[in-house]
Amino acid sequence: MDSDTRQPTRNLALDLVRVTEAAALSAGRFVGRGDKIGADRAAVDGMRLILNTVPMNGVVVIGEGEKDEAPMLFNGEFCGTGEPPDLDIAVDPIDGTRPVANGSANAISTVALAPRGTMFNPGPFLYMYKIAVGREAKDVIDVEAPVADNLQKIAKAKGEDVNDLTVVILDRPRHEKLVAEVRAAGARIRFIQDGDVAGALMTALPETGIDVLLGIGGSPEAVLAAAGLKCLDGNIQTKLILHNPEDLKKGNPMGYKEGQVLMMEDLISSDDVFFAATGITTGDLLEGVHYYSDYAHTESLVMRGLTQTSRRINATHRISRLAEISTIPY
Ligand code: FBP
Repeated sequence: MDSDTRQPTRNLALDLVRVTEAAALSAGRFVGRGDKIGADRAAVDGMRLILNTVPMNGVVVIGEGEKDEAPMLFNGEFCGTGEPPDLDIAVDPIDGTRPVANGSANAISTVALAPRGTMFNPGPFLYMYKIAVGREAKDVIDVEAPVADNLQKIAKAKGEDVNDLTVVILDRPRHEKLVAEVRAAGARIRFIQDGDVAGALMTALPETGIDVLLGIGGSPEAVLAAAGLKCLDGNIQTKLILHNPEDLKKGNPMGYKEGQVLMMEDLISSDDVFFAATGITTGDLLEGVHYYSDYAHTESLVMRGLTQTSRRINATHRISRLAEISTIPY
């Protein structure tokens, strides 16, 4: 809404869904083919082409790729038609390049927009420790409190016992202690191989059966998760993790400190956010791309922070028609 005129304003998330659909359809052809870089390149190309049709003056603040040395939409790249509004862009053309290459679950393509200057740029801190929850528990989490305390408070806020909770955790050796703490507290665990943007959003969608995300994952993914959780009335808190001391040699102009706490508002300081994600391989959040004789099917989540409207869009794409008008090899 425009606060002066009370006129509805454009919901750019509805433009963004074409962006994530294009990336997912491009990456979809690579599922199980063992080619992470090829998949990422296809998704980036598909995403960039459609992102440049979105009516905005956008600059990429969160680009993926640095961590993996993969092809990327690079930080500082301008995207969109160049007209107002001025926006920050966070992209992850593929969150889950491994599952795409290996043909396993939970890979999505995702993009978020927020007013210019409102998205956190993590600089050399490529990882964050994260705790994310949905609406009922959004006011009780504390990233600095012990795991057991958080789980007890989350369970109480949801009117449940700790042993009713399911915690989603990236399956990584670094999470050994965390896993032991969750088990000691009595909660259940859903391990995911990759994709903690989807993991974070699941906490705010009761149908997934996931109550909380815990653990260390990528910093770009934390900003994207913050955008999504703002739309779903959830919460995420994080701490900066220095993956490798060498990373500081790339510069730390903002003077961030290891262990620095970031609340959702620090990750994105505006509620006026737009978010879209499309499934590439089927997971708990979204169906993956399915191909049929001359068409493909996608499922997307399309959301706006200002109104907290969220939509699931099931789309059918006619491959031969797209081939006639598009440079993307669908
Ligand atoms: P990409 O496919 O974008 O590289 O990320 C996949 C992912 O699982 C993220 O969802 C997560 O935040 C990050 O990797 C965790 O990093 P790592 O694989 O190094 O533990």
